[in-house]
Formats: sequence, C-alpha cells, structure tokens
Amino acid sequence: MNSGPAEPVACDLDREFASRFGGGERPRAFHAPGRVNLMGAHLDYNGGAVMPMAIDRGTLALVRATRSGRVRLASVRERGEFDAPLDALPDAPTGRWYDYPIGVVRQLRDRFAGGSGIDVLFAGDLPIGAGLSSSASICVVTALGVDRVLGGDSGPSEWIERALASERGFVGVQCGIMDPFAVGLGRPGHLLWLDCSDRSTEHVPLDAGRYAVGIVDSGVRRELAAGEFNVRVAQCGELLAILRGRDESVRWLRDVDPGAFERSRSSLPEVLVRRGEHVFGEFVRTGEARAALARGDVARFGSLMTQSHASLRDCYEVSIPELDTIVDAATDVPGVLGARLTGAGFGGCCVVLLERGATESLAEDVERTFMQRHGHRPTISFFAGGEGPREVATD
Ligand code: GLA
Repeated sequence: MNSGPAEPVACDLDREFASRFGGGERPRAFHAPGRVNLMGAHLDYNGGAVMPMAIDRGTLALVRATRSGRVRLASVRERGEFDAPLDALPDAPTGRWYDYPIGVVRQLRDRFAGGSGIDVLFAGDLPIGAGLSSSASICVVTALGVDRVLGGDSGPSEWIERALASERGFVGVQCGIMDPFAVGLGRPGHLLWLDCSDRSTEHVPLDAGRYAVGIVDSGVRRELAAGEFNVRVAQCGELLAILRGRDESVRWLRDVDPGAFERSRSSLPEVLVRRGEHVFGEFVRTGEARAALARGDVARFGSLMTQSHASLRDCYEVSIPELDTIVDAATDVPGVLGARLTGAGFGGCCVVLLERGATESLAEDVERTFMQRHGHRPTISFFAGGEGPREVATD
C-alpha cells in the first residue's frame, strides 16, 4: 500500500539535469497532476459530461531556455533522449515517449528567438500508461514550463489546447477533451464537472476528511489500448451517423434522442447496440451522480460508479479479468461506496470511492483476492484531490 506522495521536490534532480545537459543556468521546475475519472466513462468524445479529479501525483519538468538552437528532452523514468535542432523537429511521431512533448514544442516554435533552444528533464511519480493521464500531464507541464521560461504568461486554456493538439494532431490518438481539462483545471478537494459539448465546467467539492479515493493498479499494460480506444471512438461515430441521418445539427451521441436509439435497436449491428447501451446509460448515470453529490448522497454516487463498471465490462467491452477482480473484491469491503475501471480500460487501474476508515481493509482484501487469482500484487494508493499545474520551488 502506498499512502501517496510527498510534495514534489525538484532539488535532487538538479544534479541529474546537469549530468544530462551540462552545467550553466539552473532550470526552473514545473508540475502538472495526473487525473482519475470517477464518472462519465467514454463520454467525452460523445459530448457527454465527465467527473474527473486531479490527483496529488504528476509529472515534474525541469526546464531551461538555452542559446543552443536545439530541443533536448530527457526523462529519469523513460529510456532514450531526444536531441534535434528546433527547426528540424520531426514532422511525424517517432513512437517514443518524447512524441508528447515534441508535439507541444512544435506548436511553440515561433516563440523562440533566433538561435535559442530548450532543455527539459522529466520526472515525477505518476504511473505511466496506467490510465491516470500521464500523456495529458506531460503535455500540459511542457506547455506551461516552456511558455514560462520563454517569458510567457499563458493560462490553463492554452495549455489544454496545446495538449489536445499534441495528442490528436501529432501523436495521433483521437483522445477526448477530458484529460487535459482535468489536469489543467485541478483543484484540491474537488471533482471537476466538465460538459464536453459546450466545455462548461464546475468544481464540485468532495469531503476529503470523510472520503478517500483509492486507485488500484492492475499492473497490466496493453500496447493494444490506443488501437482499441480508437476503435471505440470510430464505433460511436458509426452509431451517430446512423442515428442522426441527415440532421447535421446533431453533433454528438449526446444530442441524439435516447428514444431514437431504442427504436433503432433491431436494425442496428449488434456491436453498435452494445456500445449505445453503455453510452446512453452512462449519460443518465453521470447526471444522477452529479445530483447525488450535490445533495451529499455519496453512497449513491458510489453505487453509480459500480454500475458504470458493469456497463463498461458487458456493453462497452473494455474491461479485463484483472479489473473485474479488483471491482468485485473492492465492493465487498465494508465502507467501500463504489468502484470501476478508470481511463480507457484494457488494463491500467480501477478507482475506488470509500470511507476514510476503510482504506486498510480495502488494501488487504483486494491484494489477497488479486494475488490468489492473478499471481501478482496490485499497487494500491490513496489520493487527495491534487493542485493544478504550477511552478514548484527547487530548494
Ligand atoms: C482515455 C481518453 C479519455 C477518455 C477515457 C475514457 O483516458 O484519453 O479522453 O475518453 O479514455 O473515459
């Protein structure tokens, strides 16, 4: 069990930075959180609402402007360094971890004065590829850090746009808008309500003194995840095309009358019926979850999370046995209010909402059952809502 990280401390990394890039001006340090999504699974790209929370773990970036004319990127957590002239950045993704920050730096090229460059060392304590938005986190921290060392004063909406443009336009993942919003707008002790149709947001408090958010990492990493994710996006697009017919004003499945879906069931391909069942059901569950939280009914919120998992497993087909084990074992523990897979699925983590007093029994019971069934130990951490992106002190 892991009780969560201490505040990010960059000073230990100064030496590492100097050993990778040489001495000289001291870098500035920036931090962006990861996120966990509690409700609204696979709704962002369907125009629905989502309820993520920024967590108190994230990506740290040490950034320094240089006169080298080069972009140099390194990570203490990933193999391989990137080093190229600013005016010769790749036009297509390389398949390496640094595609995400390159996608951001490419957008900022005209902000560099002639002959200048940038050195960035990434670190942090966010599990990578676990469904906690490590990609949005590294993009947002790059957008913030590079902007600041170049003398800018951009805010969250610009970092969010840069992150989206990097992932969609450069890396090539058709991600929804949830992750960069959740990372960019994090506020401790709050969930974010984000309406993905009109991008309106609201911070909704969750009593951190009474409730905890646990994240259980199955340890399963699937290379297939991005491909399968794009398949789900495409299937929702197909369903939308059928249901809206010629009505161009219908932009998302969210705009479709659920009655029209019900009436079309018999003529739709079976796989699209299952996908639609999840999406239309999740629109309703997420609205109910927000109302439940507003009236302080956290137990109801939790039970909607568990219903969401069943739908992700049976209708959206993005779960795997390891994630089902975690949800089953977690929801048997007294004091647990709800659990479901989080992120795209196919591996990664489950999120558990529980009373503070239940954290130890959750960790013990889930670990025991998981070990018995799958032969390795899951990683269990508890989080508080994290702060949004910011510069951090280095001493
Ligand atoms: C991934 C995507 C998000 C969202 C979730 C599913 O994490 O990056 O945009 O679609 O899956 O809710």
